[in-house]
Amino acid sequence: FRTVIEPFRIKAVEPIAMTTREEREKFLKAANFNPFKLKSEQVIIDLLTDSGTSAMSAEQWAGMMRGDESYAGSISWQRLERVVRDLTGYPHILPTHQGRAAERILYSHLGGEGRTFLSNTHFDTTRANVEFSGAEAIDCVTPEASRADSDFPFKGNADVERMAELVAERGAENIGAIILTVTNNSGGGQAVSMANARAVRDLCRKHDLLFILDACRIAENAWFIKQDEEGYGGKSCREIASEMFALADGCVFSAKKDALVNMGGFLALNDAELAEHCTSVLIITEGYTTYGGLSGRDMEAIAIGLDEIFNEDYLRYRTRSTAYLGEHLDRLGIPVIKPIGGHAVYVDAGKLYDHLPVDQYPGQSLVCELYKMAGIRSVEIGSVMFGKYDDGGKLVPAPRELVRLAIPRRVYTQSHVDYIIEAFERVRDQRHSAPGYRITWEPKFLRHFTSDFEPI
Ligand code: F0G
Repeated sequence: FRTVIEPFRIKAVEPIAMTTREEREKFLKAANFNPFKLKSEQVIIDLLTDSGTSAMSAEQWAGMMRGDESYAGSISWQRLERVVRDLTGYPHILPTHQGRAAERILYSHLGGEGRTFLSNTHFDTTRANVEFSGAEAIDCVTPEASRADSDFPFKGNADVERMAELVAERGAENIGAIILTVTNNSGGGQAVSMANARAVRDLCRKHDLLFILDACRIAENAWFIKQDEEGYGGKSCREIASEMFALADGCVFSAKKDALVNMGGFLALNDAELAEHCTSVLIITEGYTTYGGLSGRDMEAIAIGLDEIFNEDYLRYRTRSTAYLGEHLDRLGIPVIKPIGGHAVYVDAGKLYDHLPVDQYPGQSLVCELYKMAGIRSVEIGSVMFGKYDDGGKLVPAPRELVRLAIPRRVYTQSHVDYIIEAFERVRDQRHSAPGYRITWEPKFLRHFTSDFEPI
Protein backbone atom coordinates (compact mmCIF):
# COMPACT_ATOMS: atom_id res chain seq x y z
CA PHE A 1 0.00 0.00 0.00
CA ARG A 2 1.12 3.53 -0.78
CA THR A 3 -0.85 4.92 2.16
CA VAL A 4 0.97 4.64 5.48
CA ILE A 5 -1.77 4.74 8.08
CA GLU A 6 -1.59 5.75 11.74
CA PRO A 7 -0.86 2.40 13.45
CA PHE A 8 -3.34 3.16 16.24
CA ARG A 9 -6.96 4.11 16.67
CA ILE A 10 -8.23 6.84 18.96
CA LYS A 11 -9.86 6.05 22.28
CA ALA A 12 -9.99 9.46 24.01
CA VAL A 13 -10.28 12.80 22.24
CA GLU A 14 -9.67 16.42 23.23
CA PRO A 15 -11.68 19.20 21.60
CA ILE A 16 -9.89 21.92 19.64
CA ALA A 17 -11.33 25.41 20.17
CA MET A 18 -11.82 27.10 16.80
CA THR A 19 -11.07 30.83 16.59
CA THR A 20 -11.42 33.58 14.01
CA ARG A 21 -8.59 35.63 12.53
CA GLU A 22 -9.82 38.72 14.39
CA GLU A 23 -9.72 36.90 17.70
CA ARG A 24 -6.26 35.57 16.97
CA GLU A 25 -4.93 39.02 16.13
CA LYS A 26 -6.11 40.19 19.55
CA PHE A 27 -4.63 37.17 21.31
CA LEU A 28 -1.28 37.61 19.59
CA LYS A 29 -1.08 41.28 20.49
CA ALA A 30 -1.91 40.48 24.11
CA ALA A 31 0.92 37.88 24.00
CA ASN A 32 3.31 40.62 22.81
CA PHE A 33 3.75 38.72 19.55
CA ASN A 34 5.46 35.83 21.32
CA PRO A 35 3.45 32.63 20.75
CA PHE A 36 5.01 31.05 23.87
CA LYS A 37 2.74 33.43 25.77
CA LEU A 38 -0.48 32.33 24.07
CA LYS A 39 -2.96 30.28 26.03
CA SER A 40 -3.31 26.75 24.64
CA GLU A 41 -7.04 27.19 24.03
CA GLN A 42 -6.15 30.04 21.67
CA VAL A 43 -4.26 27.60 19.44
CA ILE A 44 -5.84 25.36 16.78
CA ILE A 45 -2.83 23.20 15.83
CA ASP A 46 0.06 23.29 18.25
CA LEU A 47 3.42 22.63 16.61
CA LEU A 48 5.40 24.49 19.25
CA THR A 49 7.13 21.32 20.34
CA ASP A 50 7.14 17.55 20.22
CA SER A 51 8.27 17.62 23.85
CA GLY A 52 5.84 16.35 26.47
CA THR A 53 3.00 16.56 23.96
CA SER A 54 2.68 12.87 23.04
CA ALA A 55 -0.57 10.96 23.35
CA MET A 56 0.03 8.07 25.72
CA SER A 57 -1.14 4.56 24.86
CA ALA A 58 -3.82 2.58 26.70
CA GLU A 59 -0.97 0.45 28.06
CA GLN A 60 0.80 3.53 29.45
CA TRP A 61 -2.40 4.75 31.10
CA ALA A 62 -2.84 1.32 32.63
CA GLY A 63 0.75 1.58 33.87
CA MET A 64 -0.08 4.93 35.49
CA MET A 65 -2.62 3.11 37.65
CA ARG A 66 -0.04 0.50 38.62
CA GLY A 67 2.56 3.16 39.51
CA ASP A 68 4.15 2.46 42.89
CA GLU A 69 4.54 5.72 44.82
CA SER A 70 6.87 4.38 47.53
CA TYR A 71 9.50 6.94 48.46
CA ALA A 72 12.33 4.41 48.29
CA GLY A 73 12.72 1.27 46.20
CA SER A 74 9.50 1.70 44.21
CA ILE A 75 8.59 -1.17 41.88
CA SER A 76 8.08 1.37 39.10
CA TRP A 77 11.63 2.61 39.59
CA GLN A 78 12.97 -0.93 39.45
CA ARG A 79 11.13 -1.44 36.21
CA LEU A 80 12.38 1.82 34.67
CA GLU A 81 15.94 1.14 35.79
CA ARG A 82 15.83 -2.32 34.21
CA VAL A 83 14.42 -1.00 30.92
CA VAL A 84 16.97 1.82 30.68
CA ARG A 85 19.86 -0.48 31.59
CA ASP A 86 18.79 -3.07 29.04
CA LEU A 87 18.50 -0.43 26.34
CA THR A 88 21.58 1.68 27.09
CA GLY A 89 23.92 -0.74 28.84
CA TYR A 90 24.90 2.00 31.32
CA PRO A 91 24.99 0.75 34.93
CA HIS A 92 24.19 4.03 36.73
CA ILE A 93 20.73 5.48 36.08
CA LEU A 94 19.51 8.70 37.70
CA PRO A 95 15.84 9.66 37.22
CA THR A 96 15.19 13.39 36.66
CA HIS A 97 12.06 15.43 36.12
CA GLN A 98 13.10 16.29 32.56
CA GLY A 99 16.11 16.41 30.26
CA ARG A 100 17.51 19.75 31.36
CA ALA A 101 17.69 18.58 34.98
CA ALA A 102 20.02 15.80 33.82
CA GLU A 103 21.98 18.42 31.86
CA ARG A 104 22.23 20.72 34.86
CA ILE A 105 23.45 17.97 37.16
CA LEU A 106 26.07 16.73 34.72
CA TYR A 107 27.26 19.92 33.03
CA SER A 108 27.44 22.06 36.17
CA HIS A 109 29.89 19.44 37.49
CA LEU A 110 31.90 19.08 34.28
CA GLY A 111 31.73 22.76 33.35
CA GLY A 112 33.02 25.97 34.90
CA GLU A 113 35.33 28.78 33.76
CA GLY A 114 37.89 27.73 31.18
CA ARG A 115 36.08 24.54 30.17
CA THR A 116 34.87 23.86 26.63
CA PHE A 117 32.09 21.58 25.42
CA LEU A 118 31.87 20.42 21.82
CA SER A 119 28.73 19.14 20.13
CA ASN A 120 27.29 18.63 16.66
CA THR A 121 24.81 21.27 17.88
CA HIS A 122 24.02 22.08 21.50
CA PHE A 123 20.27 22.25 22.02
CA ASP A 124 19.32 25.59 23.63
CA THR A 125 18.94 24.23 27.19
CA THR A 126 22.22 22.33 26.75
CA ARG A 127 24.02 25.47 25.67
CA ALA A 128 22.39 27.45 28.49
CA ASN A 129 23.43 24.89 31.12
CA VAL A 130 26.99 24.82 29.80
CA GLU A 131 27.24 28.60 29.61
CA PHE A 132 25.55 29.08 32.98
CA SER A 133 28.40 27.05 34.53
CA GLY A 134 30.87 29.53 33.01
CA ALA A 135 32.04 27.14 30.29
CA GLU A 136 31.95 27.61 26.53
CA ALA A 137 29.76 25.58 24.15
CA ILE A 138 31.00 25.23 20.56
CA ASP A 139 28.92 23.70 17.77
CA CYS A 140 30.76 21.58 15.18
CA VAL A 141 28.24 20.29 12.67
CA THR A 142 29.22 18.71 9.36
CA PRO A 143 29.64 21.30 6.55
CA GLU A 144 27.13 19.17 4.63
CA ALA A 145 24.43 20.58 6.95
CA SER A 146 24.51 24.00 5.32
CA ARG A 147 24.26 22.69 1.73
CA ALA A 148 20.61 23.27 1.00
CA ASP A 149 20.70 21.29 -2.25
CA SER A 150 22.36 18.21 -0.73
CA ASP A 151 20.15 15.32 0.33
CA PHE A 152 22.91 13.65 2.33
CA PRO A 153 20.94 11.59 4.88
CA PHE A 154 23.14 12.36 7.90
CA LYS A 155 23.30 16.13 8.02
CA GLY A 156 23.18 15.89 11.82
CA ASN A 157 26.71 14.47 11.89
CA ALA A 158 29.40 16.13 13.94
CA ASP A 159 32.38 17.64 12.15
CA VAL A 160 34.89 15.39 13.89
CA GLU A 161 37.91 17.00 12.21
CA ARG A 162 36.88 20.39 13.55
CA MET A 163 36.36 18.84 16.98
CA ALA A 164 39.88 17.35 16.85
CA GLU A 165 41.32 20.78 15.98
CA LEU A 166 39.48 22.35 18.92
CA VAL A 167 40.67 19.62 21.29
CA ALA A 168 44.25 20.37 20.20
CA GLU A 169 43.69 24.12 20.51
CA ARG A 170 42.00 24.10 23.93
CA GLY A 171 43.89 21.13 25.42
CA ALA A 172 42.15 17.84 26.14
CA GLU A 173 42.24 18.55 29.89
CA ASN A 174 39.96 21.58 29.33
CA ILE A 175 37.25 19.75 27.42
CA GLY A 176 34.18 19.15 29.62
CA ALA A 177 32.60 16.61 27.28
CA ILE A 178 31.75 15.94 23.67
CA ILE A 179 27.99 15.81 23.27
CA LEU A 180 26.37 14.16 20.28
CA THR A 181 22.73 15.21 19.91
CA VAL A 182 20.69 12.55 18.10
CA THR A 183 18.76 13.54 16.12
CA ASN A 184 20.26 17.00 15.84
CA ASN A 185 17.27 19.06 16.94
CA SER A 186 18.65 22.59 16.54
CA GLY A 187 20.41 21.64 13.32
CA GLY A 188 17.18 20.73 11.50
CA GLY A 189 16.21 17.48 13.24
CA GLN A 190 18.71 15.68 11.07
CA ALA A 191 20.00 12.18 11.70
CA VAL A 192 23.48 11.22 12.89
CA SER A 193 25.11 8.12 11.40
CA MET A 194 26.61 5.28 13.39
CA ALA A 195 29.89 5.86 11.54
CA ASN A 196 29.92 9.42 12.85
CA ALA A 197 29.17 8.32 16.41
CA ARG A 198 32.04 5.84 16.05
CA ALA A 199 34.38 8.61 14.86
CA VAL A 200 33.42 10.74 17.88
CA ARG A 201 34.04 7.74 20.13
CA ASP A 202 37.52 7.27 18.57
CA LEU A 203 38.39 10.92 19.15
CA CYS A 204 37.23 10.65 22.76
CA ARG A 205 39.21 7.44 23.32
CA LYS A 206 42.34 9.01 21.88
CA HIS A 207 42.25 11.97 24.26
CA ASP A 208 40.46 10.37 27.19
CA LEU A 209 37.41 12.64 26.79
CA LEU A 210 33.90 12.01 28.05
CA PHE A 211 31.43 11.15 25.27
CA ILE A 212 27.79 11.95 26.13
CA LEU A 213 24.79 11.26 23.93
CA ASP A 214 21.87 13.66 24.07
CA ALA A 215 19.64 10.76 23.17
CA CYS A 216 16.05 11.98 23.45
CA ARG A 217 15.22 11.16 19.81
CA ILE A 218 17.47 8.13 19.39
CA ALA A 219 14.65 5.85 18.20
CA GLU A 220 13.83 8.20 15.32
CA ASN A 221 17.57 8.44 14.62
CA ALA A 222 17.83 4.64 14.58
CA TRP A 223 15.06 4.46 11.99
CA PHE A 224 17.06 6.73 9.66
CA ILE A 225 20.20 4.63 10.20
CA LYS A 226 18.22 1.50 9.35
CA GLN A 227 16.98 3.09 6.12
CA ASP A 228 20.10 4.88 4.97
CA GLU A 229 23.31 3.53 6.49
CA GLU A 230 24.97 0.54 4.93
CA GLY A 231 24.90 -2.62 7.00
CA TYR A 232 21.94 -1.64 9.19
CA GLY A 233 18.94 -2.61 7.02
CA GLY A 234 18.64 -5.99 8.73
CA LYS A 235 18.95 -4.76 12.30
CA SER A 236 16.09 -3.68 14.54
CA CYS A 237 15.89 -0.02 15.56
CA ARG A 238 16.32 -1.09 19.16
CA GLU A 239 19.53 -2.93 18.34
CA ILE A 240 20.77 0.11 16.43
CA ALA A 241 20.02 2.41 19.38
CA SER A 242 21.76 0.03 21.80
CA GLU A 243 24.80 -0.05 19.53
CA MET A 244 24.98 3.73 19.57
CA PHE A 245 24.58 3.91 23.36
CA ALA A 246 27.46 1.43 23.66
CA LEU A 247 29.79 3.85 21.86
CA ALA A 248 29.29 6.61 24.45
CA ASP A 249 30.11 6.94 28.15
CA GLY A 250 26.61 7.99 29.12
CA CYS A 251 23.55 9.92 28.07
CA VAL A 252 21.19 12.67 29.04
CA PHE A 253 17.65 11.80 28.03
CA SER A 254 14.48 13.85 27.96
CA ALA A 255 11.73 11.23 28.15
CA LYS A 256 9.30 13.90 26.86
CA LYS A 257 10.31 13.01 23.30
CA ASP A 258 10.93 9.40 22.29
CA ALA A 259 9.71 7.90 25.58
CA LEU A 260 6.17 9.04 24.67
CA VAL A 261 5.37 10.67 28.02
CA ASN A 262 4.41 14.13 29.16
CA MET A 263 7.13 14.55 31.77
CA GLY A 264 10.36 12.84 32.72
CA GLY A 265 13.99 12.20 31.95
CA PHE A 266 17.15 10.52 33.13
CA LEU A 267 20.90 10.67 33.27
CA ALA A 268 22.74 7.39 32.66
CA LEU A 269 26.48 6.87 33.10
CA ASN A 270 29.19 4.25 32.94
CA ASP A 271 31.57 5.88 35.38
CA ALA A 272 30.90 5.09 39.05
CA GLU A 273 32.75 8.08 40.46
CA LEU A 274 31.01 10.57 38.17
CA ALA A 275 27.68 8.89 38.94
CA GLU A 276 28.34 9.18 42.66
CA HIS A 277 28.87 12.92 42.43
CA CYS A 278 25.80 13.36 40.22
CA THR A 279 23.74 11.25 42.65
CA SER A 280 24.55 13.65 45.49
CA VAL A 281 23.35 16.59 43.42
CA LEU A 282 20.29 14.57 42.36
CA ILE A 283 19.28 14.00 45.98
CA ILE A 284 19.84 17.65 46.89
CA THR A 285 17.99 19.12 43.92
CA GLU A 286 15.65 16.56 42.32
CA GLY A 287 14.80 13.82 44.80
CA TYR A 288 15.90 10.50 46.20
CA THR A 289 17.73 8.09 43.89
CA THR A 290 14.71 5.88 43.22
CA TYR A 291 12.43 8.63 41.95
CA GLY A 292 14.51 11.74 41.19
CA GLY A 293 11.97 14.28 40.06
CA LEU A 294 9.31 11.75 39.13
CA SER A 295 6.19 10.07 40.46
CA GLY A 296 6.08 6.28 40.40
CA ARG A 297 3.34 6.46 37.77
CA ASP A 298 5.55 8.64 35.53
CA MET A 299 8.36 6.09 35.75
CA GLU A 300 5.95 3.30 34.84
CA ALA A 301 4.78 5.23 31.75
CA ILE A 302 8.36 5.98 30.66
CA ALA A 303 9.33 2.32 30.95
CA ILE A 304 6.40 1.36 28.70
CA GLY A 305 7.03 4.25 26.28
CA LEU A 306 10.66 3.24 25.82
CA ASP A 307 9.41 -0.11 24.62
CA GLU A 308 6.62 1.21 22.37
CA ILE A 309 8.87 3.72 20.63
CA PHE A 310 10.86 0.96 18.96
CA ASN A 311 7.76 -0.50 17.29
CA GLU A 312 8.77 -0.18 13.65
CA ASP A 313 5.23 0.26 12.33
CA TYR A 314 5.11 3.30 14.58
CA LEU A 315 8.52 4.61 13.46
CA ARG A 316 7.60 4.14 9.79
CA TYR A 317 4.34 6.09 10.27
CA ARG A 318 6.08 8.73 12.40
CA THR A 319 8.84 9.54 9.93
CA ARG A 320 6.53 9.19 6.93
CA SER A 321 3.93 11.59 8.31
CA THR A 322 6.61 14.20 9.06
CA ALA A 323 8.02 13.75 5.55
CA TYR A 324 4.48 14.10 4.10
CA LEU A 325 4.23 17.61 5.54
CA GLY A 326 7.75 18.50 4.40
CA GLU A 327 7.26 17.21 0.86
CA HIS A 328 3.99 19.10 0.41
CA LEU A 329 5.52 22.35 1.65
CA ASP A 330 8.44 21.78 -0.71
CA ARG A 331 6.00 21.37 -3.61
CA LEU A 332 4.40 24.69 -2.67
CA GLY A 333 7.81 26.31 -3.03
CA ILE A 334 8.27 26.82 0.71
CA PRO A 335 12.01 26.52 1.47
CA VAL A 336 12.39 23.56 3.86
CA ILE A 337 15.48 21.85 5.24
CA LYS A 338 16.12 18.59 3.42
CA PRO A 339 16.09 15.73 4.02
CA ILE A 340 13.08 16.07 6.33
CA GLY A 341 13.95 15.08 9.91
CA GLY A 342 12.03 12.81 12.25
CA HIS A 343 10.18 15.07 14.64
CA ALA A 344 9.77 18.31 12.75
CA VAL A 345 9.82 20.21 9.49
CA TYR A 346 12.12 23.23 9.44
CA VAL A 347 11.20 26.15 7.21
CA ASP A 348 13.86 28.62 6.15
CA ALA A 349 12.06 31.88 6.94
CA GLY A 350 15.11 33.90 5.91
CA LYS A 351 14.57 32.67 2.35
CA LEU A 352 10.77 32.80 2.40
CA TYR A 353 10.82 36.37 3.70
CA ASP A 354 13.85 37.60 1.84
CA HIS A 355 12.49 41.16 2.10
CA LEU A 356 13.21 41.15 5.86
CA PRO A 357 16.74 41.69 7.22
CA VAL A 358 17.91 39.38 10.04
CA ASP A 359 17.57 42.08 12.67
CA GLN A 360 13.86 42.20 11.87
CA TYR A 361 13.61 38.50 12.70
CA PRO A 362 11.99 36.87 9.64
CA GLY A 363 11.43 33.66 11.65
CA GLN A 364 9.40 35.50 14.27
CA SER A 365 7.42 37.09 11.46
CA LEU A 366 6.56 33.68 9.96
CA VAL A 367 5.59 32.32 13.38
CA CYS A 368 3.18 35.27 13.82
CA GLU A 369 1.77 34.97 10.28
CA LEU A 370 1.05 31.25 10.74
CA TYR A 371 -0.75 31.95 13.96
CA LYS A 372 -2.84 34.81 12.60
CA MET A 373 -3.63 32.93 9.39
CA ALA A 374 -4.59 29.55 10.81
CA GLY A 375 -4.10 29.39 14.57
CA ILE A 376 -0.97 27.28 14.05
CA ARG A 377 1.65 27.72 16.76
CA SER A 378 5.26 27.11 15.74
CA VAL A 379 8.62 28.23 17.06
CA GLU A 380 11.40 30.44 15.76
CA ILE A 381 14.83 28.84 15.95
CA GLY A 382 16.85 31.57 14.26
CA SER A 383 18.26 34.78 15.61
CA VAL A 384 15.64 35.17 18.34
CA MET A 385 16.69 31.84 19.84
CA PHE A 386 20.39 31.87 19.02
CA GLY A 387 21.26 35.50 18.25
CA LYS A 388 23.81 37.29 20.41
CA TYR A 389 25.00 40.89 20.64
CA ASP A 390 28.54 42.04 19.98
CA ASP A 391 30.27 44.55 22.29
CA GLY A 392 28.67 47.40 20.35
CA GLY A 393 25.19 45.94 20.93
CA LYS A 394 24.81 44.86 17.31
CA LEU A 395 23.01 41.59 16.59
CA VAL A 396 25.24 38.64 15.73
CA PRO A 397 22.65 36.57 13.88
CA ALA A 398 22.18 32.79 13.94
CA PRO A 399 23.46 30.92 10.86
CA ARG A 400 19.90 30.51 9.58
CA GLU A 401 16.46 31.98 10.27
CA LEU A 402 14.50 28.78 10.75
CA VAL A 403 10.99 28.09 11.97
CA ARG A 404 10.30 24.65 13.39
CA LEU A 405 7.01 22.84 12.89
CA ALA A 406 7.35 20.11 15.52
CA ILE A 407 4.90 17.24 15.30
CA PRO A 408 3.55 15.87 18.60
CA ARG A 409 3.66 12.06 18.66
CA ARG A 410 0.38 10.19 17.96
CA VAL A 411 -1.68 13.40 18.33
CA TYR A 412 -2.66 14.83 14.94
CA THR A 413 -4.19 13.05 11.97
CA GLN A 414 -3.64 13.58 8.29
CA SER A 415 -6.44 16.13 7.90
CA HIS A 416 -4.74 18.30 10.53
CA VAL A 417 -1.59 18.11 8.43
CA ASP A 418 -3.52 18.95 5.24
CA TYR A 419 -4.87 22.04 7.02
CA ILE A 420 -1.30 23.12 7.84
CA ILE A 421 -0.34 22.69 4.18
CA GLU A 422 -3.30 24.83 3.09
CA ALA A 423 -2.30 27.52 5.60
CA PHE A 424 1.18 27.61 4.10
CA GLU A 425 -0.23 28.09 0.65
CA ARG A 426 -1.88 31.30 1.89
CA VAL A 427 1.22 32.38 3.81
CA ARG A 428 3.25 31.97 0.63
CA ASP A 429 0.79 34.02 -1.43
CA GLN A 430 0.86 36.88 1.09
CA ARG A 431 4.56 36.70 1.91
CA HIS A 432 5.44 40.19 0.72
CA SER A 433 3.13 41.82 3.27
CA ALA A 434 4.64 40.05 6.32
CA PRO A 435 6.12 42.69 8.65
CA GLY A 436 9.48 42.60 10.45
CA TYR A 437 9.61 42.57 14.27
CA ARG A 438 11.68 44.26 16.94
CA ILE A 439 12.32 43.03 20.46
CA THR A 440 10.91 45.38 23.09
CA TRP A 441 12.02 43.38 26.16
CA GLU A 442 14.30 40.39 26.67
CA PRO A 443 15.80 38.37 29.54
CA LYS A 444 19.47 37.40 29.80
CA PHE A 445 19.13 33.65 29.09
CA LEU A 446 16.86 31.70 26.71
CA ARG A 447 15.24 34.86 25.48
CA HIS A 448 12.89 33.21 22.99
CA PHE A 449 10.67 31.91 25.79
CA THR A 450 9.74 35.24 27.32
CA SER A 451 10.80 38.14 25.06
CA ASP A 452 8.26 40.73 23.95
CA PHE A 453 8.04 41.90 20.33
CA GLU A 454 6.25 44.44 18.18
CA PRO A 455 5.77 44.59 14.42
CA ILE A 456 7.73 47.27 12.58
N1 F0G B 1 18.12 18.00 24.38
C1 F0G B 1 17.41 18.11 23.26
C2 F0G B 1 17.99 17.66 21.95
C3 F0G B 1 16.12 18.64 23.30
O1 F0G B 1 15.42 18.74 22.17
C4 F0G B 1 15.60 19.06 24.55
C5 F0G B 1 14.28 19.66 24.64
C6 F0G B 1 16.38 18.90 25.69
C7 F0G B 1 17.64 18.36 25.57
C8 F0G B 1 15.88 19.33 27.06
O2 F0G B 1 14.91 18.46 27.51
O3 F0G B 1 12.84 19.85 27.69
O4 F0G B 1 13.05 17.67 28.88
O5 F0G B 1 14.33 19.64 29.64
N2 F0G B 1 13.64 20.06 23.63
C9 F0G B 1 12.33 20.62 23.61
C10 F0G B 1 12.02 21.05 22.21
C11 F0G B 1 12.06 21.66 24.62
O6 F0G B 1 10.99 21.71 22.00
O7 F0G B 1 12.77 20.73 21.28
P1 F0G B 1 13.71 18.94 28.48
